[in-house]
Amino acid sequence: MMGYKGGLLAVFVLNFAFIFPTIYSAHGDISYTMTEEMKRGTVIGNIGKDLGLNVNELTARKARIDTKGTSKPYCEITVNKGDLIIAERIDREALCGKKPSCVLKMELVLEAPLELHRVSLHVQDINDNPPLFQNDIIKMEIGESTAKGARFSLDGAHDADIGDNAVQGYVLQTNEHFILNFETKSGARKHCELILEKELDRENHQHIDLLLTAVDGGSPQRSGTVAIHVTVLDANDNTPVFSQASYKASIPENAPLDTIVVVVRASDADEGVNGEVTYGLDHISDSGNVFSLDSKSGEVRVIGSIDYEEESSYEIQISAKDGLGLASYSTLMIDVTDVNDNAPEIYLKSLTNPIAEDVLPGTEVGIINVHDEDSDSNRQVRCSIEQNVPFKLIPSIKNYYSLVTTDKLDREQVTNYTVTVLATDEGSPPMTSTKTFQLSVADVNDNPPVFAEQAYKAYVSENNKRGSTLCSVTAQDPDWRQNGTVFFSLLPGAINGVPVSSFLSIIGDTGVIQVVKSFDYEQFRSFTFGVNARDNGSPPLSSNVTVSVFITDRNDNTPQILYPASEGNSFLTELVPKSSHGGALVSKVIAVDGDSGQNAWLSYQIIKSTDPGLFKIDLHSGEIRTQRDISETDNMKHNLIVAVTDNGQPTLSITCTIYLLISDNLSEVPELKDLSYDDNNSQLTFYLIIALVLVSMLLLTFIIIILGVRFCHKTKPRMIFDGAVAIPGAYLPSYAEGDGTETMRSAYNYDGYLTTGSRTSDFKFVTSYNDATLPADLTLRKTDFGDMFGDSEGSPEVRQFHCTNF
Ligand SMILES: *[C@@H]1O[C@H](CO)[C@@H](O)[C@H](O)[C@H]1NC(C)=O
Ligand SMILES: *[C@@H]1O[C@H](CO)[C@@H](O)[C@H](O)[C@H]1NC(C)=O
Repeated sequence: MMGYKGGLLAVFVLNFAFIFPTIYSAHGDISYTMTEEMKRGTVIGNIGKDLGLNVNELTARKARIDTKGTSKPYCEITVNKGDLIIAERIDREALCGKKPSCVLKMELVLEAPLELHRVSLHVQDINDNPPLFQNDIIKMEIGESTAKGARFSLDGAHDADIGDNAVQGYVLQTNEHFILNFETKSGARKHCELILEKELDRENHQHIDLLLTAVDGGSPQRSGTVAIHVTVLDANDNTPVFSQASYKASIPENAPLDTIVVVVRASDADEGVNGEVTYGLDHISDSGNVFSLDSKSGEVRVIGSIDYEEESSYEIQISAKDGLGLASYSTLMIDVTDVNDNAPEIYLKSLTNPIAEDVLPGTEVGIINVHDEDSDSNRQVRCSIEQNVPFKLIPSIKNYYSLVTTDKLDREQVTNYTVTVLATDEGSPPMTSTKTFQLSVADVNDNPPVFAEQAYKAYVSENNKRGSTLCSVTAQDPDWRQNGTVFFSLLPGAINGVPVSSFLSIIGDTGVIQVVKSFDYEQFRSFTFGVNARDNGSPPLSSNVTVSVFITDRNDNTPQILYPASEGNSFLTELVPKSSHGGALVSKVIAVDGDSGQNAWLSYQIIKSTDPGLFKIDLHSGEIRTQRDISETDNMKHNLIVAVTDNGQPTLSITCTIYLLISDNLSEVPELKDLSYDDNNSQLTFYLIIALVLVSMLLLTFIIIILGVRFCHKTKPRMIFDGAVAIPGAYLPSYAEGDGTETMRSAYNYDGYLTTGSRTSDFKFVTSYNDATLPADLTLRKTDFGDMFGDSEGSPEVRQFHCTNF
């Protein structure tokens, strides 16, 4: 815009005077002065230094320049130095028009804590606009009879600059008829007029051409010219006269097109063409095409849009001319009144998003700025949040609000908030606007995993397969991603002194617990262990749960026969007296089962018998009794095969064979070896017979010695037991329940019968045994007696037992 070199230099010198900052600082406000049209990047001042903030602080607190409302960002702050620099060319004329003082208002915003500094930049005018006439040519018609000294108003030149840079004077081309007169009227407008110095003579000069130059007071000076074309007319005596020296009107900014603002009127005393008034409109102060003036009626109408925010008043030159061109001028001042036509605008200046869910109530999460273009109460804005969200607005500085949390946040409940800010101005009617934005909540590892159950119970039957699933635990953690990812592990512990991990393993991410070793109900029946669930947060959170395992019994133990003893191939035979009556107790099978409950309920049955009608066994007690009296015709030898069966699923059983001999005397047994007709035992029997023969010979020798002794001591009584049998009287197994480790203890009461050969001196003794001490040879073996009694008269009864497992 600047014309020549000298001007540039002058402006530069001028700037220097102003750049050295004129800082006015009041209540944190700061102001600078700067001339318009400075280059981009020109330093206005060091705002950091002026506010006493160092560069680091400016960076940390996100220092920024916030220009009001929608206006362009003319200035910015260099974060590395804290300089306030020009960011955009500032044209004072575009910014402030004719206003004598042009101030650019900005705000320096600092966050954490929010701090606001008003920054005003006073923009100084430079003479960058020349005076301009509205038209290139001014046409005038002046009657030839016009008296000397008559004055003719001229439309002045317009200069966009202000003060000294505006129009200061006019220079008229030297001529013989006119001189120039100008005076300063109100509003600093230079009004100029031509004064007739020498009468015109139409016959001499029909036209006069003049050059009018307007000059401003700037340095360098600028000028504008207009040509004045005067047509010399015949006489016309009276000029039109406006009814008022100036007109004033006001109009609301929202006035529709064609609204009549005011009607101007001028009267002319002349008659006919000389008295016909035509109205005209000079150029409007800054913007044209807003008002029209009807040339006939004098009505001023709205033809363009008027906006208080753009232009709050207009000053218009109006003219009234009569038919022959005599004109007079007046001024029309139109004030525009503000109407609440601008809704508040809401700007989100800063927002923390997402917000960590553990922020305390009252934490600032955003800064909101509201702005209303209107003036006075129309620009007073109230701001609020309507929804039921844990956020509120706290009025901060001027039109700034802090968005703060009002409550604790919990991402597990609400992850996203939609916040709508409502701004209402105080106009009538009020205008509102809203702004909606999303706020999300970021996760914090604040929930430990929670097991689905408070304690777990698992049932497993013994002898379970290795690698089979015992049970599974589950836990929920509502946190996000790794903060909610759960891993399971076994807590250290021991079962009967053995680490849990050697019995069980857990799959970390599924919680499935597997068995590494199979369990034995007979060892322990229940145990507990702990499982830990831990999330993957940092630091991780965890919780524990107890799992109780109950081992259930399986029928894995076959009944064991304690009596008759199963070991060896001994020939134990029960002797049944011939005189036995029906129901007499003959023997008893004693068996135990390692299992428990039903699996250990034993039942006894005779599955094979030499004479099925003679003996019976009690199903539950295992007592063998005669069914009827023994008769002479009955066989002497009887074999009973007894099956002992438990009640498990499937049942397990064992059999044993009981040899019975109906006899009162062992000597009645014809062929002892026949007692054992088991093929498997035939060889053994053979050896036994050989042994028996040998022993019998020894016994014979022994008896001979005894007889010899007897002869010597005739007076001594003879005491020989020739037979003995121990018959169990009752069998009472008992378990100590609960500790799972108890050993089976059984108490046995045995009724032992010792029978003499004469059957007259039977007596009985009762003994108690522990199973651990129960000897396998509880009953006397045949061989023992064979040794003792050989073939003597009172030969012992022989019992033979043989048990078989199948
Ligand atoms: C998990 O929580 C921590 C704080 O405890 C947080 O820093 C992290 O971002 C969270 N992770 C995710 C994936 O949200
Ligand atoms: C879980 O048990 C372990 C071992 O007894 C213990 O160290 C830990 O503190 C427990 N954790 C919780 C959350 O109770």
